[in-house]
Amino acid sequence: MIIKPSEASPRDIYKLMIGMVVPRPIAWVSTVSDDGHNNLAPYSFFNAISGDPPVICFAPSRKPAGDNKKDTFRNLEKSGVFVVNIVSEHLADAMNQSAADVPPEVDEFALAGVTPEPATLIQAPMVKEALAKMECKVRQIIQLGDQPTSGILVLGDVLCFHFAEGLVENFRVDPAMLNAVGRMGGNSYCDTRNRFEIIRPGVNTKL
Ligand SMILES: Cc1cc2nc3c(=O)[nH]c(=O)nc-3n(C[C@H](O)[C@H](O)[C@H](O)COP(=O)(O)O)c2cc1C
Repeated sequence: MIIKPSEASPRDIYKLMIGMVVPRPIAWVSTVSDDGHNNLAPYSFFNAISGDPPVICFAPSRKPAGDNKKDTFRNLEKSGVFVVNIVSEHLADAMNQSAADVPPEVDEFALAGVTPEPATLIQAPMVKEALAKMECKVRQIIQLGDQPTSGILVLGDVLCFHFAEGLVENFRVDPAMLNAVGRMGGNSYCDTRNRFEIIRPGVNTKL
């Protein structure tokens, strides 16, 4: 079967993309509005894209109606900063609760039952219960289209990493302790418990 994007609706193309690009990591993004309201929402169009400089990206889509900016985007556009919290399995339900489409003044930390804690370098809250988090400064915003559901790519410089006690040894993150979840298509998720190793040809050191 061959499908060209021009031959299907944006909704169906979106379904194809989230079904085939799997599993996707989840950025649980926390921000604060200019009038002081905390915001928290999950974004699985997310990845790490550079180690030097350390840069991550994620992509909030425009909303189908209204002023069409998601709260996360509106906040980081104004403040220039955001935190990416990693979703471990014990936080999966809370992460899902925080995805509710609620007005900007509703604090999704309370909705999800997690605790805001101040970041060290930026004016944005972190999720206290998350085992790993990154304080980020907006590097670049790239508008990917002007249609109602078009994506917006946000690149962020990582200013500071936070790790729970025991999670990192010699700069290696313990995947069993982190126990991150990934997003599949629709409402399905995967865990990261079933791992295997493949040794790269000609590479002696583990990267
Ligand atoms: C696991 C998960 C991943 C999501 N990934 C994205 C994404 O990559 N881009 C996006 O625009 N919305 C994504 N959403 C939907 C947003 O979380 C949702 O629109 C949320 O209400 C946005 O909140 P905000 O307006 O407070 O930023 C995702 C939802 C879930 C549950």
